[in-house]
Amino acid sequence: MSSIYSQSEYLHFVSELFEQGIVDEKDREIVEFIIPDRLKRLYDVLNERTRYISILLEAVDDGHNQAAVLRSADAFGIQDITIVTGRAPFAPNDLVTRSADKWLTLHHQPNIETAISDLRQKGYQIYASQLCDEAVPIEELEVSKPTVLIFGNEHSGVSKKATELADGTFMIPMKGFVQSLNISVAAALAMREVTERAKKAAGEQYYLTMKEKRELFREWMMKSLNKRLRKMIIQKRESRN
Ligand SMILES: C[S@@+](CC[C@H](N)C(=O)[O-])C[C@H]1O[C@@H](n2cnc3c(N)ncnc32)[C@H](O)[C@@H]1O
Repeated sequence: MSSIYSQSEYLHFVSELFEQGIVDEKDREIVEFIIPDRLKRLYDVLNERTRYISILLEAVDDGHNQAAVLRSADAFGIQDITIVTGRAPFAPNDLVTRSADKWLTLHHQPNIETAISDLRQKGYQIYASQLCDEAVPIEELEVSKPTVLIFGNEHSGVSKKATELADGTFMIPMKGFVQSLNISVAAALAMREVTERAKKAAGEQYYLTMKEKRELFREWMMKSLNKRLRKMIIQKRESRN
């Protein structure tokens, strides 16, 4: 495949990666195997990623909905998704995700209590989607702190337990005859709204730290290799240890 980069542009870009600290000498053997355009794409996407906004899916059972949420999270730069399964397993439909899930960090939790307590320990404020009059319209949700949005089951919505444990509730105002949106549509609209506002509210704090970038970039580079190369690099590393 031909590259949009000349050899000198590529070499300059790679040296910038080292200078910025996105990669270090240990990574050189992987960097050299990644095609230039892919390397640049990983870097560009990395620089838009956030952990400032995060998503918790509670008992979202439909594989198409699960997949559509992951795809939107990737599109809006949200790296972390916490999952508490309901009746159905978490099995996002491959045709819908278009491999978006490969680049995300999924945190599976056994129940909603553990999920919320883990997120709280990480410093998040937690808001549950709720179709009620008391819920804050999403445009007014305060995002001056790292924020998690909870989305719930296709039929029963977010559980009472989750709503009680959350710091508050939010909703996307509805103006039509139907009472609710499809979960994946609601999640996409909410993600778009809060990420745009949080970027402005949080500035640099919105984006990953250099340490987080380095770890994720390394993980993504490994995932970008074909199986044979990945195996070869792992073996080479093991033989050195
Ligand atoms: C189809 S709705 C569930 C409807 C359920 N009867 C209820 O009252 O929550 C599935 C999920 O989509 C999300 N959702 C749907 N419409 C929404 C809206 N207008 N604002 C925020 N979230 C919404 C919520 O996460 C909800 O739990």
